[in-house]
This record gives sequence, C-alpha cells and structure tokens, in this order.
Amino acid sequence: MTEQATIDFFSTLRRAVANVHLYPKGHPQGELALDMLTETAGALTAGNDQVVLSMMDNAFYLDRQLLPQASLEYRDVYRLLHGHGLDSISIVGRATTGDLAELAAFLAAEGSDVPAEGTVLLNERPYNRSELLKHAAMSEIRHSYAASLDFLHGVADSMGTEDGGADISDAVWTVEDLLEKVLLQPGASLLLSTLKTHDEYTFYHSINTSLLALTVGQAIGIEHDQLVELGVGALLHDLGKIRVPVEIIQYPGRLDDAMWTEIKRHPHEGAQAILAGSGRGQEIAALVALEHHARYDLGGYPTVARRERLHLYSRITAICDVYDALTTRRAYKRALPPAAALKIIMNGSGSQLDPDLVQIFLSILGIFPAGSLLRLDTGEVAVVVVAGHGEETMEAAVAVTAEGERVPTPEPFELTADRVVDLVLPEEVGLDAASLVESPHLNLN
Ligand SMILES: [Fe+2]
Repeated sequence: MTEQATIDFFSTLRRAVANVHLYPKGHPQGELALDMLTETAGALTAGNDQVVLSMMDNAFYLDRQLLPQASLEYRDVYRLLHGHGLDSISIVGRATTGDLAELAAFLAAEGSDVPAEGTVLLNERPYNRSELLKHAAMSEIRHSYAASLDFLHGVADSMGTEDGGADISDAVWTVEDLLEKVLLQPGASLLLSTLKTHDEYTFYHSINTSLLALTVGQAIGIEHDQLVELGVGALLHDLGKIRVPVEIIQYPGRLDDAMWTEIKRHPHEGAQAILAGSGRGQEIAALVALEHHARYDLGGYPTVARRERLHLYSRITAICDVYDALTTRRAYKRALPPAAALKIIMNGSGSQLDPDLVQIFLSILGIFPAGSLLRLDTGEVAVVVVAGHGEETMEAAVAVTAEGERVPTPEPFELTADRVVDLVLPEEVGLDAASLVESPHLNLN
C-alpha cells in the first residue's frame, strides 16, 4: 500500500464523479471511468482483506498511515467527501464496479442516502481520532496550506459569478495564518513551498510564491503588519489568470500572438478583481498583481507609466514567482532543479529582477535550496532539508537508495557539496520533497 495507490484512486474517483454529470448512465465514457476506478480500488486493497481511508482534520489516512501529499494534492476530493459527511471509506476485499458506481453517484448528487452495504462501506470509522493522531499528525504549515487552497478556491468561485469581483476579505486571515507558521517553522515552510501538483497549478503556485515572499520579507526585516500585506499581494498576484481561458493557460506548445495578448491581460484583470473586493492591504495587493511582470527595468508588461520603480513587494513577488515557475513542470516545459533555477534568477539580476533582492534571495535559499534532490557519489538520492550557506555543509537525508528504492524513514545527516554528482528531478525518482515535511526523524522546525 502506497500513497501513490491512493492518489491513483482519488484521481479516478474524481473523474468518475465528474462523469456522472457529463454522461448518461451506460455511456462508454462513464463506463470506462468506472472500470478505471475499479482497477485503482483493486490496487489499493491488493493483498489486504480491507483498507480504510479516513478523513480527519483536513488529512487523509490510509489505515493508520498519514498521506501528507494526497491531503494537499487532492484537497478538492477531501472537500467533496467531507462535504457529503464522510469520515471514512472502507474497501472490503475487491470492490465491485457496482458499489463504486454507487459511491460516485452518491458523491455527484446532493443529499442522497449513504450507500449502506457491499464492498464499499462509508463512515464505519474503525480508527478513532487519537489512534490516527498517535501515529502521525499533519504539520501545522500543511494545515495552513490546505486552508489557503480553500480560500483561493472560494475566490475563484466568487470571480465566476455575475458581478465578478473577487471575495478577498479572508485573504488577511489566510496570510496571517501562513505567516505564523513561517515564523514558527521556517524550515518546514520552505520545504513545503516546493510542493508541486499537476492540477490547479495557479493555486499551488500562488501559495508557494506567498510562502517564499514571506520568508524573504522576514529576512529583510519587514514588520509584521506589512509582511501580511506582502503575503496577500504574493498570494493574489496571479488572480487574473482565473479570467484567462484555461485552454490558453494549459496550452502545451508555443503561444501565438493572440494567446499572448490574452495572457498579458492577467495583471490588469487581477488588479481589477482585487480592487472590486475589499479588505486590508487591498490597494498594495492590486499593485503587486499589476506589476509582477513589469520587470525591474520596466521593460515588461504592462507598461508602468510615470513611475521610477516598482513597489518593493512587487519586486519581491517577481523573484519568488519566477523561481516557483521555473522549478515547476508544465504541459509545455520541463521543470528545472532548484539550483539550476537560481542560475536563471541570477541571469535576470539587474534587468528582469531587482539585483539587491536577488542577492538576498540567493543567500536565503543557498546553493542547493531545501527540497533539492541530489545524486550522491554513492548513487543514492538525498533531499536537502536545510540549505547550507556559502561553504558550509547542508542538512540532507537519503530518500532513495542507489538501487532506486524509497527509504521509508529518511535520517538526517550533514552533506558537503563535494559529494554531489548530479541534480535530480522529482519525476525521475518519483519523489516530491515536500512529502517529507512530516517525516519523523527530520525534526523540521
Ligand atoms: Fe503572472
């Protein structure tokens, strides 16, 4: 049983539920989705009499095992299950397609009865709260990340309505919560900011950018209330993307001129949506949204007239935005390892990006930033847990053996840069460094 098997199950469950709305019963597309769901449910229980998925405190558990990544990547599935009053799903033996179809129909409908019998049992709750928490609890920062996803989800919904303004009144509260965790758990926050997902890219990117911006802002001595304003600006900087057609945002090739014109609207759209809402720091947040692609040399878009330079928060957000985008894989481009992304940031210093802030950014992240995957001279792959600075050693943990096996509980050790032979991408070894935040021996603060 692995977290990956659960992720596959969620992904097929999500599709099966969506298909209930899209196709009539018996339609080949709907049947195909149910067959795939049956297959992933089978893989989930393989070799076990029963497995239990529990939903508690915003986290998924597979039997007693916490699933940190799935809890964030499938936040929408959590909302869906929780919204239907579900705390647990027990799959007994090999789940039948009929029972899974009933589950999908139940989740697609509102207020129908909970299916009671069969191979898929709902709300049996075989594990109680303390039993699950005793084993592993989700980190505080991951809770805040989940709350931020919910917030952005709500904002996106409000922008889809008639009046079209963004409901951002909870932005301050959301960022205060993130900031509290960044201050309490700076290491865990930086590691979690490397989280990547294939869905809802803009939401995850926005939270990562905000976490990085808060870290930079704190390092340069910005006071608490202003840090919150910076964090709100960074969290909402790409809000306008919600108004750009998703086919263009996800377009897997080179954009033509018409598409670029659409993309270039997002700073304006975002600023307008923020101003149409209400809340503290709203004007500065709108400015950050407007300026985040304007470039340090003002050669970007949109043209910023009659101003000598961009707002400090726009300049901080721009660096964090570029860094997170470079390290993320998209339909049309590969991800860069963090150390390679920093080189590109350096190349943009003084033209695209503020050179003083670039220096600060590099000194905070180190040569191999937290979350970097490094191939060692032994053939093992280590995750950087706390970056080193200058010539110093970094704290790392071997997560994948030389034979390519995942290490169940990675142990921390001091790693020197001379032992690093290569940079590794998450997809090469099937490991997202952010999944290690709750790893018991790493003691991330
Ligand atoms: Fe943007």
